[in-house]
This record gives sequence, C-alpha cells and structure tokens, in this order.
Amino acid sequence: MTSREIRQSFLDFFASKGHRIVPSAPVIPHGDPTLLFTNAGMNQFKEVFLGTGKREYTRAADTQKCIRVSGKHNDLEEVGRDTYHHTFFEMLGNWSFGDYYKKEAIAWAWELLTEVWKLPKERLWATVYKTDEEAFELWRSVTDITPSHILRFGEKDNFWEMGETGPCGPCSEIHIDLTPDGNAPASMVNAGSPKLIEIWNLVFIQNNRKEGGSLEELPAKHVDTGMGFERVCAVMEAIKYNFQRPPSNYDSDVFTPLIKKIAELSRKKYERSNSDNDVAFRVVADHIRALTFAIGDGAIPSNEGRGYVLRRILRRAARFGRNLGLREPFMFHLVQTLTETMGDVFPEIIEHQKHIERVIKGEEEGFNQTLDRGLEIFEDALANLNGADIFPGEVAFKLYDTFGFPLDLTELLCRERNLHVDSATFNKLMEEQKERSRVTAKAATFAGGEKFIETSALSATKFLGYDGMESEAKVLAVEIPYVVLDGTPFYAESGGQIGDTGALVYNSHAFDVLDTQKDGGVFVHRVAGKMHELIGKSVSAKVDRPRRLSIMRNHTATHLLHAALRKVLGTHVHQAGSLVAPNHLRFDFAHFAKVAPEELSEIETIVNEKIKENIQLQHHRDIPFEVAQKMGALMFFGDKYGDKVNVVQFGDFSKEFCGGTHVKNTGEIGFFKITSEASSASGVRRIEAITYDYALEHLKLQNKTYRERVEYAYQLVDEIQQLHKDLSAAISPQTDSSPLAKDDVLNLDIELRKLEDIPEISASINTDDLREKFADHVRRFSLLENYLLMLAEKKRDFEKELARFKVKSAASNLDDAVARAVSVNGFKVVASKVIANDMDALKSLGDALRSKLGSGVGLLAAVIDDKVALVCVVSDDLIKTKNIQAGKIVGAVAKTVGGGGGGKPHLATAGGKDVSKIDEALKSVASIVRNLN
Ligand code: ALA
Repeated sequence: MTSREIRQSFLDFFASKGHRIVPSAPVIPHGDPTLLFTNAGMNQFKEVFLGTGKREYTRAADTQKCIRVSGKHNDLEEVGRDTYHHTFFEMLGNWSFGDYYKKEAIAWAWELLTEVWKLPKERLWATVYKTDEEAFELWRSVTDITPSHILRFGEKDNFWEMGETGPCGPCSEIHIDLTPDGNAPASMVNAGSPKLIEIWNLVFIQNNRKEGGSLEELPAKHVDTGMGFERVCAVMEAIKYNFQRPPSNYDSDVFTPLIKKIAELSRKKYERSNSDNDVAFRVVADHIRALTFAIGDGAIPSNEGRGYVLRRILRRAARFGRNLGLREPFMFHLVQTLTETMGDVFPEIIEHQKHIERVIKGEEEGFNQTLDRGLEIFEDALANLNGADIFPGEVAFKLYDTFGFPLDLTELLCRERNLHVDSATFNKLMEEQKERSRVTAKAATFAGGEKFIETSALSATKFLGYDGMESEAKVLAVEIPYVVLDGTPFYAESGGQIGDTGALVYNSHAFDVLDTQKDGGVFVHRVAGKMHELIGKSVSAKVDRPRRLSIMRNHTATHLLHAALRKVLGTHVHQAGSLVAPNHLRFDFAHFAKVAPEELSEIETIVNEKIKENIQLQHHRDIPFEVAQKMGALMFFGDKYGDKVNVVQFGDFSKEFCGGTHVKNTGEIGFFKITSEASSASGVRRIEAITYDYALEHLKLQNKTYRERVEYAYQLVDEIQQLHKDLSAAISPQTDSSPLAKDDVLNLDIELRKLEDIPEISASINTDDLREKFADHVRRFSLLENYLLMLAEKKRDFEKELARFKVKSAASNLDDAVARAVSVNGFKVVASKVIANDMDALKSLGDALRSKLGSGVGLLAAVIDDKVALVCVVSDDLIKTKNIQAGKIVGAVAKTVGGGGGGKPHLATAGGKDVSKIDEALKSVASIVRNLN
C-alpha cells in the first residue's frame, strides 16, 4: 500500500462506522494560549470534551497535522538520530463525543489493523492503564490478541494528557514488534526500541487537568485516538521486506522523495545508517516538513514564542545541512518536493508555496551570515578551554544573544566534541535578560492587567449589535466598574476590532460605557458610575453610534484592503494581525518584500473602486464551519472558530471569516487612503490607512505648505480651547462628568511650538549637510502631520461630547414640557419644540421624554438643517391597552409641515419642509390623539 492508500483506507474505515470525516485543523492552534502548535488530533475538539463546545456529530475522524517540539510533547532531540520520531507528523484519529466508548474503540482498532491492513496479530501488543480492568478485559473478550501480550503500565505510559492542563484520561496503546523473528520479549514494550514501537493510542477521555494539578471528572466520557501515520507506513514497508531489514519511517514514500532530493542537492548518498551523514539526511527531511506546514499555516520564524521554535528548527536543519556540505541556502528547494507529494491532501501548501519558499530562503540567508561568525567565536572559546570538558555558559549565551544560536545548537556542536554546556549559567543569563524585557514591557502597557469580573457562572451574552446599536437589556452582574447584561449591542474587542463605547441608560440616567471586552462568551462593559442597585433591572444599552460607524467603515475597508493586497501582491498574502479603531486601521500581513509605491497606489485604487461600486454586504451568520470553508472564505490563523461561524462577503471581491461589524454597503466608507507601509516583524509588513472624514482631513493637508500647516494647527488649537470652554459651561458639576472637561487643552501647543519653524536650506549647502537637512524636513513634515491629525480628531471628540451634553441639558427642559402636559382621554399628551443637532439627538430626547412621561404620548419638534424633524413616543401601556401607535400620530402631525414618516409603535420619526408651520403642527397633536379611535 502507498501512504496515500493507507491514509484513505483509515478514513474510509471510520466513515463506514458512522464517523464524520473532518478536515485537519491548522498546525497553528486557533487561539489556544496553552499550546504553541497543534500537538494532537484532539486539540480542535478540546472544548467538546470539556463540555463547553458542541458539534453536530458525535463521531469524527481525520488526519491531523501535528508538531511536537515544545511543552509536554517534545521529540526534537530524538529527531533524525532515531528513525521514528518527528517534529511534524500526521496523526490519524477517530473520536467519540459521549457516544461509543472503550469496547468499540478497541474492537474497531483491532479490526482495522488485523483485518483491513492485515498486520500479523502475533506481533501486536496492547497496554492498558494499571487500574483499568475494563480495558484489560475488553482486549481479551473483543479481540483475539495473544493474552500474554496485554500489559499494564502506570501514569507515564498509559495516562494521556494534552498539556499542563486540559482533557486527559487513561489510555490503551497498541505496539508492534518489528524484530526479524517477531519474538520480542514483553520487556521491550515501552523501552524506547525502534524495533518495538507504539503505533496507536486509544485515550479514554474522562478527566480535566486543572491549573494547580487537580483532576476533575468530565460530564461525559469520550474516545480520542491517535495513530502515527508515518509509523504505520513504515510498518507496511517492513512487512514488504518480511521484517528482514531494520525498520525506519524514512523508508516509506512519505520521505523517500525528500531523501532523493537532498541526495541530489548534496551529491551524497543516503545509506540508512547511523552515520553523521545519514542523521543529517533525516534531520533535514523531517524539519522541512515542520517548517513548510507551519509557515503554510501562517507562522513566521522570529525571536519569540512559536516563531522562535521555528527558527530553531530551521537552524538545526541548516547546521546539519553543513554536515552534508550544503553551505548555500538549500532547504527552500525542498518545498516543491513536498507540494508534489502532499499537496493533494493539504492544498494549503500549494496555495502558499511561493511564500513558504521565500520565508525559508530568507531565514537561511540570514542564518548563514551569522553562522560563520558564530562558529569562529565557538572555535575561539574551544581553544581557551585548556582541556576542560565544560563549555562556558557565558559564551553559549553570547552565541545565542548575538549570533542567534539556540542553546541546543551549541549543545549539538559540543556533543560532537564530547563537551557539555554549562547550561545553569546560560539559563541564569537568559532569566536576567527576560527580567529586563519584562520591565520594559510593563512600562509600555496600560490597563492590560486589569482583572475582570468573575464570569464563569454567567451564561454567554447574546450579541445584538449586528442589526442595531440600541437595545433593552437586563443587568445580570455588576462589579464596579464592570457590568454584564443578558444581551448587548456593544461589540466586545476581538478579531482586531476594538470594543464599543456608549451608555447604559436607566430612568433617564446615563452611565457611560468606556470599553467592552469579553471573557469567553461573556461580554463585559466597563462603566463609569455605580450601577450596583441595578442588578436584575432593565436598561437601554446604546452604543456610541458615530464612533461605531467609523469602526465599521474601517473594518470593511480592512477586508477590501486584504482582498486588494492578494490581488496585487499574490495569494500568499494573509493576515498576521489587525487593528480596527474609529480613527484608523492597521493591517499586518505576511509578505517578504517592501510593498513598492506603485503597488501601494494600485491597492489604494482598487479599494476605492470597490467603494465606488457600493457593493452590498452579505452577512452569512452561524453557518457550519465546513460550509464557510467550501465558500472559499479566507480565515485568519490566529482566530478561534467554533462549529458555527460568520462569513462577511462583499460580492465576488471579498469573503472572510469574521465576527466583526460591517457597513451595509461599501459606499459608506466614502474614501480610503493608505498612510504608511513598513515592516512590523521579520517577514511581516504593516499597512496603516484611514477612511471617510479622517481621509478627507488628510487630503486637506496635501496642498498646504509647511507654514500653512502650522497655522492650521494653531487654528485647531484655538477651536479646541473654545470647545473646551463651551463644554465646561454645559456640564452641571453636581450630576455630570466628562473626561474631556479635564483635558489639559491649554498646553496643546507646547509640542507645536517645537515644530513651528522649519530650517531654511541655503544654496551653498554641501551634499552631506543637505542630506541631513532633507531627512530633518521629512521628519518634521511627518511629525506635524501626525500632530494635525491628532488635533482634528480631538476637535471632533469635543464636538461630539458637547452635542451629547446639549442633549442632556435639553433633557432637563423636558421636565418643564411634561409639567405643561394636557390630558386627553385620561392620559398625558406632551407637545414641545426642542433644540437638537441631528435626528439621533432628537430621538434621544424622545427616549428621555418617554421615560419621564409614565403613561402618555409625547411629540417633539426641532429644526434640523432648515427642515422640520419630528419624533413621537408612546408609553407601553397605551400601546397594549389602547393600541396607540407612534407612527400613526407622527404621520398625521407631519402632514401639517408638508411631510411624512413612520417607525415603531413606541417611537417614530418624521420630517417636513415647512418650518413656518411648526407651531401649528404642535397644536394639532392633542386633537389628533383625541380622534385616534
Ligand atoms: N491524543 C492522543 C495522543 O496524542 C490520541 O496520543
């Protein structure tokens, strides 16, 4: 059987037993902070086991891409030295989620191995957890395994755990004897011999390991199995040779094309031995797979975390490559071999091939430059050892810190010379360095460490903010300053989109929401003011609409940018991170070169074209993950996707997995402008851009001279100072507060003074000075522009805040209006003229009036943009008992001013042209209400 046939027959077998065949999850785990890499097939089902996630099936099977190079399961040191451990491997697995248990798991495993694949029964061994009598008995009763081949082992071998925490349970493993005569003794099982290896692990998941080490029982019992695909392929090879040659995973067609290619590049021969040469062959063949799949799934070699592990793998391979005489970058040539042999099963490596090759080649080049210099330092240190067999930790650290030698590389070099590294000193220096960077990191973050309200007892919040920005909600929990509601229109920061702000209104008192975050599925609002007494009460939750609209424009623009980047630069471009804020957007993506100015301009043009086309949003909500994948929606590797996902689509141009909020039509973005392009990490570029008002502001500056810009900045400072005064006057200090009122606007121009003058350049200047002056000019222009944008934004903030307080003070005038109410058919009718800047403000006044009314009808009129705007509100009891509808009333009143309108029963709006008829219209309200029935 070829490896392809083996994989397929596994999947077919479990499909025939009622299993859903699911795709492999990426090898970079979706948002599981406990894992650097996917290390087992069950990772994608972790939540199903813990009882916090659900699937629409209870049996599944797949082949999962895994990497085991860090944490609990770490095989790196063995790789290449032996013939059956790998950094990257495929794990064939089948699962039961609270469905079948030990009996079927054991019986089916036996059936597949001995009847479908026809492995010789007498060569198979089974192990069970020392106290698992049930599994022990099942092996005897449901299989015909040689009874003496069932062995018991302790925690180390037969209690499987995913990591320091997470689902776990007793397991039963199947091992195979690969000795020539097939007569290995029981003592060879679990003894680390390549001649008797484990091939399949059946885990009976029934516990959860908690932080701190305690075990808890899970609500249901599950099966999680994992079979080493490459090992099974090697076993099939061994059978071909009737077990008469030493087994090796590198003999199967999973690896032979790679081995052949390495032989071709190095002009060396692979001889299946333990020579340095052959170890190097195996290391390279293994490591290129881990690198290709990890990079293909979105990881990038770097100096931290996952990226650092990849860098180490690459360097380990490059260093072994030198043993084969390969000094120039060579590994990137092997990617093609992999796409040819595995691309049909994992098409993502074909899709990202160019990108993967570029990243690997770039890393190889970078490393080669430092390797030679590092090796010199290493040799110098050796010469100074004077016969000692310990290599100094200080030098190992220097090699790490300055030349990027991971400790295991230095250890490798030392081992070849029978030395060992003073790793205690190395670790001490490493700790000191970490401490130093911790201190810097701390200073740079704020509010990051804030501890949330305890959310574990609360159920997931219903997000209502896709369809509206206001809704009624019940307060479930309060822990100052945090508030949790049963449902909310507030978007909690995720997927790069920042959290909403706004207000929670109770009895016309507004509590400002300063930020929204989430903890699992529970949305947490950070609120100014004490809401304690409101637990269990209803509030109206109102998102800051203009701010959210800006965010939505930027989020949609981010998707358009992503699609345009892929169009112009190639489909290897994928998102590595993003920030969607009201005032700008930032998009990080994997790409290996600077984006040229012509390319940037083309990208910008495409995005603006798409804005002009005014493409309508298609929001596919809660669709099955597989359906979304089939639609060809792009997904972001760092994100976590459950069984049901949302896809945001704009025509044929852009389709992405996304939980964020978007404009209904691309036209709402107005205009898109890229403001910068730079490198953000190795292999990752960052584009920053602005839309709408912010982009227009930016354009306004373009044809201004430096002097004019300075003047414009001063003008903005003046305006802000005036707005600050107005705001302070509008606030009544007993009841209100505004963070902006505390803003120190008097000192706004300090920075500006420093930028006021730009040095003249005289004709006699020499070239060097000119270069320096020029650089200084560029710097000043850019500082001034940033300063201006900051001022413009501040001005907008003040204007908004002032409008809000005007609404608030207008609200207090409503009390007078309510006092002047007339009585019609036994309830209050209020009709009054008010001042409001826009329809939103008028609606807010309507809301406030409604809560002051108790039982009654209210109608407010305002002049907005030289036209009449009306809002009508009706209290709930009148809607219910008398079927009074705000829409009907406002429609009738609007006739007087030459217009019309409508809305919901409790609140409706209308417009009209004839401002001179406002009073007449207001007078008509009482009679219209009287004649309703
Ligand atoms: N999760 C089990 C393992 O990785 C099957 O061995």
